[in-house]
Amino acid sequence: MKHYVRLWILFVFLQILILHKLYGALESPWVLAIKSSASDWLSQQTVYPCSFRKLPMVFEHGDGYYYVVWETTCSSESPLFKWWADGESTSKPTQYIEPWYKKLDNSHHRYAVIFGPVGEVSDVHYQVMNFRLSTKTYTIHRQISSSDHHRVLVISDNQNGPKEFREVLSTVKSRYAKIGSPHAILHVGDAVQNANRLSDWQGQLFSPMEDIVDYQHGSPIIFVPGNHDHDKARRPDNKNLYPDMYHGIRSTEGLSKDIVSNGTYHRFFHSVSVGSARIIVLDAECPSAEQTAFLKRELESTEFQSARFRIVSVHIPPFIEFWDPFAWNIKNEKHWGEHVRLEYDSLFRKYGVDLVISGHQHNYQRATIEYNGKNIISYAIVGGAGGTLDLVRVQDWKMYNRTYLGHHFVSLSISNSKLEWLAFNVAGSVIDRFSIER
Ligand SMILES: [Fe+2]
Repeated sequence: MKHYVRLWILFVFLQILILHKLYGALESPWVLAIKSSASDWLSQQTVYPCSFRKLPMVFEHGDGYYYVVWETTCSSESPLFKWWADGESTSKPTQYIEPWYKKLDNSHHRYAVIFGPVGEVSDVHYQVMNFRLSTKTYTIHRQISSSDHHRVLVISDNQNGPKEFREVLSTVKSRYAKIGSPHAILHVGDAVQNANRLSDWQGQLFSPMEDIVDYQHGSPIIFVPGNHDHDKARRPDNKNLYPDMYHGIRSTEGLSKDIVSNGTYHRFFHSVSVGSARIIVLDAECPSAEQTAFLKRELESTEFQSARFRIVSVHIPPFIEFWDPFAWNIKNEKHWGEHVRLEYDSLFRKYGVDLVISGHQHNYQRATIEYNGKNIISYAIVGGAGGTLDLVRVQDWKMYNRTYLGHHFVSLSISNSKLEWLAFNVAGSVIDRFSIER
């Protein structure tokens, strides 16, 4: 082969290699982070045209209801939220809702709606529209029958770790590319470091999800409040920036929670069915008589007792083993959230809870234990979606079957007769698995 031909082949090969590397780099978490920051900065400049800063994020709001929040960089004139639904035997005609508007500052204009009940339909479609800014149509694919197979992504504590969160989400994306998008996302709290900082919500939650997985438009989030997610002033007027879906907004018929009348901080507990499982969500920062009454009522309810799998999700775990030793011992944080163990855990056992899912502790632990000679309960800690890891042991409950001191997520699948729990690390390897069959 002539010398110049060899050089030419080498040149083409190098071009392909460079293009391949460049393409890979464009999708890498750090390039996406830079892109988001630049876009965020540009949208704050008056020269930049009005746009969506946060595309719609959808949350579960009780069985058959959804809460959707989105944000624009300028006040978008008279937007409407449009939704409709269809299924095999029934459908819902198009409905329009005028959203609640909240100006957070000159470049953060927040809108929110609650819609439903959607009924027994398999697909719910929605779109935000006005004459200047409209989104595309998003679809929530619902599994109506309890015998359907539900895929639930479980994450927690991405606070203050956007780079690591993006890495976790990249692995999440690979996992769900193989099995289909999750039908729901269980977020077990601490989505941000500082709930009062707009840039935390953008940089630590909305942008990473938008850039990497894009599930939040069609996979409703079951949100479990963490200690970092809220305005702690506990004022009757609601000061929360985004997670205020359970505060001061109209009550909806059929929801399994008290009517929220005055926007009090303490009203975040709720419950929802996911296929054959019933999930009770508690606010760990709120050890109120109201919440205890709610918990007892829910545990005794037909929905919970007749569910094939009974789950409670609460941000602070009943049994913590890893924490900052100084904070644990000197700042007395060992007593923080103790009511979850001392008050709630005995109720969990009394009413046959199968699985307690928590975050707060930034690593992975799972215990499956027998009590009263015949009953079994599992406790899982999934606080590893991005926050700085907790590596120092401060307690030993001698109960955990698996401990993993790294970032991770859980792929939970719920079918009629089987609940399957698969925990993955960032490399995509299975770090723990267990199942319940009945
Ligand atoms: Fe926490």
